[in-house]
Amino acid sequence: MAELAVLYDRIRPDERLLFAALDELGIPYDKVYTPQLKVFFDAAGQAQVPWKVAIERCVSQSRGHAVTRALEAFGVKVVNPAHVTELCGDKLATNARLHAAGVPTPRTGVAFDGEAALQLCEEIGYPVVLKPTVGSWGRMVSRLNDRDAAEAVIEHKEVLGGPQHGIFYVQELINKPGRDIRAFVIGGVCIGAIYRTSAHWITNTARGAIASNCPVTPDIAHLSVKAAAAVQGQIVAIDLMEDPERGLLVIEVNHTMEFKNSVGTTGVNIPKLMGEYAIGLL
Ligand SMILES: Nc1ncnc2c1ncn2[C@@H]1O[C@H](COP(=O)(O)OP(=O)(O)O)[C@@H](O)[C@H]1O
Ligand SMILES: [Mg+2]
Repeated sequence: MAELAVLYDRIRPDERLLFAALDELGIPYDKVYTPQLKVFFDAAGQAQVPWKVAIERCVSQSRGHAVTRALEAFGVKVVNPAHVTELCGDKLATNARLHAAGVPTPRTGVAFDGEAALQLCEEIGYPVVLKPTVGSWGRMVSRLNDRDAAEAVIEHKEVLGGPQHGIFYVQELINKPGRDIRAFVIGGVCIGAIYRTSAHWITNTARGAIASNCPVTPDIAHLSVKAAAAVQGQIVAIDLMEDPERGLLVIEVNHTMEFKNSVGTTGVNIPKLMGEYAIGLL
């Protein structure tokens, strides 16, 4: 058993890259397949959790959070810690924290009922963006150009959605230049960034956007480090948009960041830096 663990539930190209980087660093580590992990909260528990540090890489956000909670009970330093995944896994919680820390974000509001949500859309002014507070890969991120669209989507969420869909998180649409920016922060340092360019207004690479190198300007470095600090993120990726008037705005912080499209594009060995950061916690 090693002192370092990588917690995963699916081996994506990102996990492959991370394993290869750790192999290259020559540090012993355990690959822990979390769907088969059992943790007992008794004297036997400690033996089941021999690690000092763990890098959490679960695709399932709820599983990743739960396993982090469990391991932290035995003193394991998990990257990112549970209190970070709680914030970053929820766009509302993240935005509340960014706002409190003075990090610029798009004008955003939240409503807890369909009628109030429609009023919120009207007050922000169309087009607005409605998104689930929990989610990723651009899923269900919806652009509402007018009141008809807002009424339709809000009604569908109220009638067909579960409790999560009763939280209406609404944002002004930023007129970004066909791209957004993803900046990677490890241990309080912005180590690289990519542009994500698409003909579609949703610029997730999971939705077909093209990644290219984005030079880390002092602005990008400053804002992404500030956003990471606001949520106490240790290894995080910050989504930024360029507003023509206001400059950079932060939209979210990702706590189990994907980086496979960003190693070749930036020339930065992101998985190696992740590994070195974790080793530094041992
Ligand atoms: N307020 C907005 N204005 C313009 N584009 C947005 C806005 N919010 C999100 N987007 C676009 O949608 C993408 C996904 O939104 P995001 O909030 O990052 O959710 P996800 O967690 O699904 O990645 C962003 O990368 C951006 O391209
Ligand atoms: Mg995003």
